[in-house]
Amino acid sequence: MLPTLDRVDCIFADPPDAIGLKYNSFNDRIKPNEYQQLLWDWLFCFSKAAPVVWFSFNARWTFAFGWVVYEFLKLAPKWEAKPFVQHFTFGQNKKTDCGNGHRPLWRLKHKDAPLYPDAIKVPSWRELNGDKRAAKGGRVPLDAWDFPRVTGNSKQRRSHHPTQLHEGLVERAIKLTTAEGQHVLDPFGGTGTTLRVCKRIGRICTLVEIDGYYCQEIANEHNLKISHHPSGLEACN
Ligand SMILES: C[S@@+](CC[C@H](N)C(=O)[O-])C[C@H]1O[C@@H](n2cnc3c(N)ncnc32)[C@H](O)[C@@H]1O
Repeated sequence: MLPTLDRVDCIFADPPDAIGLKYNSFNDRIKPNEYQQLLWDWLFCFSKAAPVVWFSFNARWTFAFGWVVYEFLKLAPKWEAKPFVQHFTFGQNKKTDCGNGHRPLWRLKHKDAPLYPDAIKVPSWRELNGDKRAAKGGRVPLDAWDFPRVTGNSKQRRSHHPTQLHEGLVERAIKLTTAEGQHVLDPFGGTGTTLRVCKRIGRICTLVEIDGYYCQEIANEHNLKISHHPSGLEACN
């Protein structure tokens, strides 16, 4: 359940991964069938609240989430799905097989919702290599986005929380799908990455976070009030 909110312009969701991470209070050991049901509930609920919904999730759920999206699109023919990936090079070295170097980031969008690709242009290969033929102003990136994982020694790291996304990744997703001044909701606030990004790029942001301690950390960092919701969720505005 989400607190009652007016519709927002975009939802950026990075739910718990159900891989047994040690959160302060949330139990991340969710059975696969329950997790798939949650993915379905979240997507269904979020699509009622915004025309664009981003989902970042662990690669082990690619098939489960693919099924959820497939069923969702049958019920919502005016929506479309586009899979992106976060690609990273710093991963566990496996000797018996290739290790995992990506994290899925899928975008569900109502077909009428606009995109702003010019806002996320990056320098092209030609530009970087001094080729005069390079188009001025860079190019729109492909759908595999290189952003490192935020681990122990990263400057972005908030050590009170077991996992967080790279601010660059969240910024690119939000810039691609919203204009300045629009409203972004992050239903799984965590360390408040989405809020930090929204403040920097001029979007209104609402976070929801189930754990009061994490909510308090976000509130302290940004000097915010916490509003308590009857469902037990806490939202920072
Ligand atoms: C993967 S973390 C999000 C990290 C965040 N993207 C960041 O970069 O800091 C998921 C968060 O969702 C919270 N959470 C779990 N279940 C929730 C629920 N039903 N409603 C709101 N928050 C929830 C957890 O406490 C955890 O902080």
